[in-house]
Amino acid sequence: MAHYKLAFLGFGNVGRALAELLIRKEKDLKEKHDISFSVTGIATGRHGAVINQNGIDLESLSTDFGDNAIKDSFDFIQKCGADLLFENTSVNHKTGQPALDHAKKALDLGMHVCTANKGPVVHGYKDLLDLAEAKGVRFYHESTVMDGAPIFSLFRESIPASNLLSFKGVLNSTTNLILSRLEQGDSFDEAVKHCQDVGIAETDPSGDVDGWDAAIKVSALVTVLMGIPLKPQDVNREGIRNITPEMVADALKDGKRYKLICSAERDGDKVIAKVSPELIPSTSPIFSVEGTSSIVEFRTDVLGDLSIVEKDPGPHTTAYGLLADFVNAVKG
Ligand SMILES: NC(=O)c1ccc[n+]([C@@H]2O[C@H](COP(=O)([O-])OP(=O)(O)OC[C@H]3O[C@@H](n4cnc5c(N)ncnc54)[C@H](OP(=O)(O)O)[C@@H]3O)[C@@H](O)[C@H]2O)c1
Repeated sequence: MAHYKLAFLGFGNVGRALAELLIRKEKDLKEKHDISFSVTGIATGRHGAVINQNGIDLESLSTDFGDNAIKDSFDFIQKCGADLLFENTSVNHKTGQPALDHAKKALDLGMHVCTANKGPVVHGYKDLLDLAEAKGVRFYHESTVMDGAPIFSLFRESIPASNLLSFKGVLNSTTNLILSRLEQGDSFDEAVKHCQDVGIAETDPSGDVDGWDAAIKVSALVTVLMGIPLKPQDVNREGIRNITPEMVADALKDGKRYKLICSAERDGDKVIAKVSPELIPSTSPIFSVEGTSSIVEFRTDVLGDLSIVEKDPGPHTTAYGLLADFVNAVKG
């Protein structure tokens, strides 16, 4: 049985859900994949860090860690002694830092890196891939778009020699839930507050409402699946602030719904990439994707149209994408 030492950098909603999932899947990993693991390090931003080469007990973790010998996140990566780093710190849409440098440091030390953080993917993908290849390890990021739904691994493993021509979908849960709530009679502010109350929108909801989260997901898909580096700043972006309850009600009367649509279309070596609200007719599969669910429709040169729908995602599904990355990375 192959044994792997794992480290967590970032231990918030996703890191904790992943710890729970690893406990739940320990037996499956052993029996179905001949993999055992121990966790040798956990680090946060403001709640300390811990390293234990003999393995940390995931079942009895506190919320604060206190190893004063660890100076910072880079010192943690250097000392954690892991074979694989889960990088799940907060996303920085503009630069991808410090997650990008975290990933580089870990790869340079010969660790696989699996992340749900979109920053490194859109701000340093090629460098990270080159470094991973040079070190004989993997940089995987399944959970960066549509949580744990298999998108990147689908193109990487299951449809070789395909070309992605275009995609279109709903990739931001918060705006989709806001639009659903407007249909149910909420004002815009009430809908935003509901999203904050259920824990999917931040105190400052502008990252979602103004389309930044959607734009960084479009960038990640274009960068990785179309092979065209694209920054979120280069996506033609419009959020949902101008959509009123009256517009939503009128659309429904016409049998249509507003959705914040993410799309990209290859144009030779270039790409036209967009985030904007669109009226979707009831004949489209996108029409019935409500609340926090999401959908993406891919058009490829081999399979025509192919859609993936994800119902009610959350940190638990994001955690599964990371666990799948772990298995795929170590199985090579
Ligand atoms: N939530 C989801 O379902 C979901 C879905 C897809 C992708 N993601 C991505 O997954 C990542 C984690 O999301 P989350 O929901 O778990 O966020 P979160 O609950 O805010 O947790 C973030 C974690 O990262 C730590 N952290 C922040 N900056 C750090 C730094 N510079 N060095 C070390 N640790 C740092 C935080 O520590 P402190 O709390 O001590 O500051 C915390 O432990 C994000 O990039 C997010 O965009 C999340």
